[in-house]
Amino acid sequence: MTTTTHTAPTDAPPDDRPRLRAAGVTMRFGGLTAVHNVDLEVYAGEIVGLIGPNGAGKTTFFNCLTGLYVPTEGTVSYRGTVLPHRSHLVTQAGIARTFQNIRLFANMTVLENVLVGRHTRTSEGLFSALLRGPRFRRAERESEERALELLRFTGLEGKRDQLARNLPYGEQRKLEIARALASEPGLLLLDEPTAGMTAGETTATRELVLAVREQGTAVLVIEHDMRFIFNLCDRVAVLVQGEKLVEGSPETVQNDDRVIAAYLGTPFEGEPGEAEIAEVRAAEAADREGGEG
Ligand SMILES: Nc1ncnc2c1ncn2[C@@H]1O[C@H](COP(=O)(O)OP(=O)(O)OP(=O)(O)O)[C@@H](O)[C@H]1O
Ligand SMILES: [Mg+2]
Repeated sequence: MTTTTHTAPTDAPPDDRPRLRAAGVTMRFGGLTAVHNVDLEVYAGEIVGLIGPNGAGKTTFFNCLTGLYVPTEGTVSYRGTVLPHRSHLVTQAGIARTFQNIRLFANMTVLENVLVGRHTRTSEGLFSALLRGPRFRRAERESEERALELLRFTGLEGKRDQLARNLPYGEQRKLEIARALASEPGLLLLDEPTAGMTAGETTATRELVLAVREQGTAVLVIEHDMRFIFNLCDRVAVLVQGEKLVEGSPETVQNDDRVIAAYLGTPFEGEPGEAEIAEVRAAEAADREGGEG
């Protein structure tokens, strides 16, 4: 048996503090409590899933984390520092996000969209930009190189000069991720990244999220696709009617009766009959065959 000793926290590298700590976050809209007293932490190297039925408060919670909403109660910290309620300052601190309803600059090119995302990381001032001096041009070249790197990383390098609005839906979602990554975040929040994607695109997105983690960015992801969530995440939190119902490993969450009930409604009394079990098995087998074909 081994004993664990904890070294003095003063010597601990900053990464020991959670990338995200939401403490008692509550968001009320008039009489409606969309998010109620939610605690959630995300550590470096983690991919955490946030699931829950429609209207559970997942997006509202993201909006509280990213400074879009001022939570009615609670605090949000990034690496131990409480964040201000201003989205550009949150991005600057190190949290980037994508949106459930894609928000790209439709009439800008793919490359330009990513360059916009880099804006928080370039220190060039207005005068430098207006005069377009050597310092500005160097910064611009570096930004472009980094943006192209991100396009390669997300598989969009061939589309750099296309207008964002002409991209197929799945690639627009990828571009949103590339743009979010351009701010060099320590934590990436993804709101339904695979919505509307084909099975192949969803698999590619899974690979992309794993690669993002490899590069040192922690990820918090909202998704309705359970297979995607349970295959990808280290930990999953379930939000139901604004409250965190369960949090744990994918296995724990999948087998929790309360989670099943929250999604399916209260089941019939007693165990499912043989007929129901056979029906589910047959549907799963058909699904597997369909998926492989
Ligand atoms: N700006 C707002 N003003 C008033 N009510 C809001 C606002 N934003 C969200 N709500 C309400 O808060 C609740 C939670 O909505 P939210 O969009 O966060 O759910 P969600 O879990 O993201 O759902 P979905 O899976 O459908 O995206 C809903 O009842 C919604 O109508
Ligand atoms: Mg939502």
